[in-house]
Amino acid sequence: MKKVVFDNYEQLSVAAAEFVAAEINKKPKFNLGLPTGGTPVGMYKNLSEMNKAGKVDFADVTTFNLDEYLGLERSHDQSYWYFMNKNLYSNVNLKPENINIPNGTADDMDAETKAYDKKIEDMGGLDLMVLGIGPNGHIGFNEPDSYLIAPTHTVTLTQSTIDANARFFDSADDVPKMAVTMGVGNIMKAKKILMLISGANKKAVAKALNEGIVTPENPATMLLMHPDVTVLIDKDADQ
Ligand code: PGA
Repeated sequence: MKKVVFDNYEQLSVAAAEFVAAEINKKPKFNLGLPTGGTPVGMYKNLSEMNKAGKVDFADVTTFNLDEYLGLERSHDQSYWYFMNKNLYSNVNLKPENINIPNGTADDMDAETKAYDKKIEDMGGLDLMVLGIGPNGHIGFNEPDSYLIAPTHTVTLTQSTIDANARFFDSADDVPKMAVTMGVGNIMKAKKILMLISGANKKAVAKALNEGIVTPENPATMLLMHPDVTVLIDKDADQ
């Protein structure tokens, strides 16, 4: 696991966008795994500007998002589709047919999750997976537990995640209790992983990554078994 420490969030965000752009520019048809949350907003802003400046081309990029809340329509302002459309899709030359997010309102979630994984496999797998990390160590919505699930699946969110995400809703009661997420198997199969860690509330999970102990109680530690992970972290989160 390679780690680069930045003085602040703005520098981290520029470096994250440059990292992603450099990977996209290396390969004509690129499969990109993407996160939501507060952390990647700066990266998306920089990628949008780089796209407008001709520094990165999304014409042949296919995106696969990590997760989505169950029961929120795309038009809901807290759906992850809405977030992605606002922060990236509507700002760059991604083709609408190349955008993928698990559908949290599908009638048959089992069929939805299986089809999502099949599409990733059929496309040749993810070239790069960009990840944030929850204060509890979750990646996507793979929550701390005594076991982890490999494929895309539905999940009941922990209270700590509901509390952490309540800031985006009117109240914690409005945060959906369930979500659909890529599993750790999908994430681990990505050829390359870029993890972004920012802010003092991530200090404890970031420290656990340094300690080198792999446990499903801190899902992000699974990444210690992946051969190509780069962590971009700001000083506030670094110990
Ligand atoms: P954050 O969320 O970037 O808003 O802290 C990260 C996550 O929960 O994965």
